Amino acid sequence: MEVLKRESVIHQFNQIDELNITAQNLLLNAKDAAKNAYAPYSKFNVGCALLLENNEIILGNNQENIAYPSGLCAERTAIFYAGANYPTVSIKMMAVTAFANGYEVNQPVMPCGACLQSISEFELRFSKPIEIILQGNSGPIYIAEGIKTFLPFQFFIKELGM
Ligand code: THU
Repeated sequence: MEVLKRESVIHQFNQIDELNITAQNLLLNAKDAAKNAYAPYSKFNVGCALLLENNEIILGNNQENIAYPSGLCAERTAIFYAGANYPTVSIKMMAVTAFANGYEVNQPVMPCGACLQSISEFELRFSKPIEIILQGNSGPIYIAEGIKTFLPFQFFIKELGM
């Protein structure tokens, strides 16, 4: 018996100029942000750009640490900055990209589980889906209409939340 079913699609594009201008601009911002990552251990630079409801763009990148678990992913660096500095402003769109030292990242980089959970709570908090644009350093571009595409069943305790 099927109890719960969630369906969602990922739109694939092959070139950045197939995206609308807003999405193109956000992806280019994420690529710039990746250059400023602090990733001396993994040598895997991730960049994230958020488009807020007030049209401001927030950038984040991965921040590593010699005590490895102390580091933070690009997505959470960006969304926690948004939460800290724009606590009442929702996020419209997010772009994530990455490049590595020594090999070509030619597939979209999926946000890790912890980032999915954190992004998901932002959607819930503002009751607004966040469009998510993913690309490696090259290769296909994926666009999802919201976090549910990647995290259909989110951890949430109604009594502890909103
Ligand atoms: N990383 C991100 O910044 N975002 C993700 O979604 C996955 C992984 C970072 C963490 C670490 O600094 C490096 O990529 C290699 O795992």
